[in-house]
Amino acid sequence: MSVSASSITVDDKRVELPVKSGSIGPSVVDIGKLHGQTGIFTFDPGFTSTASCESAITYIDGDKGVLLYRGYPIEQLAEQGDFLETAYLMLFGELPTPAQKADFDYRVTRHTMVHDQMNRFFQGFRRDAHPMAIMVACVGALSAFYHDSTDISDENQRMIASLRMIAKMPTLAAMAYKYSIGQPFVYPKNDLDYTSNFLRMCFAVPCEEFQVNPTYARALDKIFILHADHEQNASTSTVRLAGSSGANPFACIAAGIACLWGPAHGGANEAALKMLMEIGTPDNVAKYVAKAKDKNDPFRLMGFGHRVYKNYDPRARIMQKTTHEVLKELNIKDDLLEVAVQLEKIALEDEYFIEKKLYPNIDFYSGITLKALGFPTSMFTVLFALARTTGWIAQWAEMIQDPAQKIGRPRQLYVGPEQRDYVNIAQRG
Ligand code: CMC
Repeated sequence: MSVSASSITVDDKRVELPVKSGSIGPSVVDIGKLHGQTGIFTFDPGFTSTASCESAITYIDGDKGVLLYRGYPIEQLAEQGDFLETAYLMLFGELPTPAQKADFDYRVTRHTMVHDQMNRFFQGFRRDAHPMAIMVACVGALSAFYHDSTDISDENQRMIASLRMIAKMPTLAAMAYKYSIGQPFVYPKNDLDYTSNFLRMCFAVPCEEFQVNPTYARALDKIFILHADHEQNASTSTVRLAGSSGANPFACIAAGIACLWGPAHGGANEAALKMLMEIGTPDNVAKYVAKAKDKNDPFRLMGFGHRVYKNYDPRARIMQKTTHEVLKELNIKDDLLEVAVQLEKIALEDEYFIEKKLYPNIDFYSGITLKALGFPTSMFTVLFALARTTGWIAQWAEMIQDPAQKIGRPRQLYVGPEQRDYVNIAQRG
């Protein structure tokens, strides 16, 4: 499709709307001057037809099932690279040379410890606090601990804040987990790679040695790569909106974590696993598929459907393979996997799901893998947040450097009462 020129006529006044083209993907109609010239706004709840910014980080073709980070297909990055390489790519736009990679790994590794007073901050939480609640609070609180990297006009401080968050998210996530199970915090160990270090901080105890299983570490590293960015999704848009006011980066990422928590977004992996547990056995699958199709039943198949992917979620394909690899390594015959396979099969053959282009998304399989790796469901969204932090930071940094950047300020279609006069309380009734 090509769009070369566009215009709109409002009250007989014709306004030319410039069309902008990206490197790939749909063009956009620039409506930035529409209100100034005509007095009307556009209306697009849920932003289904609205591009909110220019970005050179992630590209998705939802119809073809394509996901590229800085031009590189997700399949190649997940199969051949590692997570910190992806983080470098996100931040700097190119894959690192060996020397750049070694330097980046070193710098991230040297920031993994959190300020020791953060330990006391944790003690304020109820023992059974959801780890996402802890993450929202602790990441926001980093701005109270690292004043020397909150000046967003200073490029050097922006980079230090970025490295700090990439480095400290695994430490905070592991602490949130340890706190919830009443075990002592495990400090980072700098001779381990990023993901092995995280697994150790989660599953080691101080009284014995801990060996990280390389298959687990590789599987989790892949999960992190798959979750690293997804262009202007709800949480990323939240980070950009928060950042557009000039808020410090720690506060912006905390806002992103809050948004990610919802079951329609990052919380879907937790919800998908709970759903598989509720379905229980493959012979119940048909009943639940019928519930999902029933307009009068609010039940939805969690882990199915996506706002952008209307063919297949490419991340789901990689995730499905990783799930099988992990279960094989562990020699686990998981009933939930059988339920998932059966559910996927029935749903993909069903007219309702075909017609609405509803396919399994990444969350459909990631929950099974994370459970097999030993994580409780309450940690699933935390792991998503850990990985997505790289994307959020890259998007935030891109926004700060964009000369067209303004505070985000959507307008509305007002449907409330017209102006009316205040009535004293004694005369109301
Ligand atoms: N099960 C049953 N029906 C569904 C589902 C589902 N999972 N998803 C969408 N539909 C139906 C929906 O009822 C609607 O039907 P109709 O047109 O008859 O009213 C139609 O499909 C379109 O749905 P929508 O809600 O308008 O689509 P959306 O683009 O606004 O929502 C979604 C996308 C992901 C929120 C939605 O598909 C959903 O709630 N899925 C389950 C939650 C989930 O797995 N979320 C993870 C998304 S991937 C991870 C991430 O990026 O965060």
